[in-house]
Amino acid sequence: MANGLDDVVAADTVLSDVDGAGGHLTIRGHSLAELAGRWRFGQVVHLLFDGFFDELPGDSELEQAIGKARVEVFERLQPILGQLAPLDIYSAVRAGIALLPDGEALADALRLIAAPAVLTPALLRLGRGEKPLPPDASADHASDMLRMLGGTASPALAKALDTYLVTVCDHGLNASTFATRVVASTQAGLTSAILAGLGALKGPLHGGAPGPVIEMLDAIEASGDAAAWLRDEIARGGRIMGFGHRIYRVRDPRADVLKAVVRQLGSSNQTGSRLAFAERVEQAALDVLRVAKPQRSIQTNVEFYTALLLEAAGFPKEAFSNVFAAGRVAGWIAHTREQQATGRLIRPQSRYVGPVPDLVA
Ligand code: ACO
Repeated sequence: MANGLDDVVAADTVLSDVDGAGGHLTIRGHSLAELAGRWRFGQVVHLLFDGFFDELPGDSELEQAIGKARVEVFERLQPILGQLAPLDIYSAVRAGIALLPDGEALADALRLIAAPAVLTPALLRLGRGEKPLPPDASADHASDMLRMLGGTASPALAKALDTYLVTVCDHGLNASTFATRVVASTQAGLTSAILAGLGALKGPLHGGAPGPVIEMLDAIEASGDAAAWLRDEIARGGRIMGFGHRIYRVRDPRADVLKAVVRQLGSSNQTGSRLAFAERVEQAALDVLRVAKPQRSIQTNVEFYTALLLEAAGFPKEAFSNVFAAGRVAGWIAHTREQQATGRLIRPQSRYVGPVPDLVA
């Protein structure tokens, strides 16, 4: 039995399709290339939610409603931010989200869309000894997230972050989306399902990888020899962060989208030199992995250039998974609704391989 459920089809979905052999991602009939950099995150939320909420307005009204939800979440949770702040930033945001109502209405969904985008900058500011900045309901989601973090949002960085949120909004039945669907199948509320997704996303084999990518880049820079560092890492049983994928046997298409965004942010500045270094590390990693793991095609995944993009946008590496969650929450909610509509509990079987009790005569 495959203990990772490889190749098991556990849901029919209209939301997204990951073509691992061809390296294509389709989101509700649109290729990633059509959406990334062209559609705003709020429009993609509309695309994903369409048909799953009776009361869904048009996409510009929905973006305004997301803005209002940011304000509502801030006002609701501001009084307890000080209590959350001592936790690590991921746990703090998860704990804040756990306090939101476990409902099923569009308003509940929009609060969940808003929550990671509002809580992450607010808690980062508190951690730096600065006062959290309230959301601006009239701003677009990515700009407001950056402004709440640093006080300003350059159009270039806002566009980069928006493209990132769109790029990671949904991705087939990945571990966190599966977790949300399992909880959704019990008919628990949206918040419960999203908390399950957050739990699964955190791990370094899934959405927890981009922070460690930065640690790897820094360690390789300090070592001065990328190939030797990478070979040692594999020899001691470590994994090269930002490489490999369960479904993709070719390069993850999201890696190229995000790399292009990082390139647009600058060629002559710090981001440009960081990108040039990362590209050298990427090539060294692909070469080392080809030799060390010849039985498997291990290619660059989304997390490698996620790390560079979020670093350039001003997020500390500890908060990268929070920003991932701010995008993926859109897909989680849509999958939750899609799963609930089937009306069937997800309940697989296990095979008992433990000791058998003595039969009492
Ligand atoms: N570095 C070194 N070896 C790797 C890597 C890697 N990044 N990825 C897979 N392998 C090796 C394994 O060590 C194993 O080798 P072995 O057969 O000699 O024991 C072989 O490839 C198969 O490993 P599995 O865990 O079965 O492969 P799977 O496709 O299920 O793994 C995963 C996918 C978990 C993402 C893996 O590639 C990995 O750990 N990558 C590093 C962490 C990472 O980047 N995570 C983010 C993924 S993208 C996302 O979730 C958003």
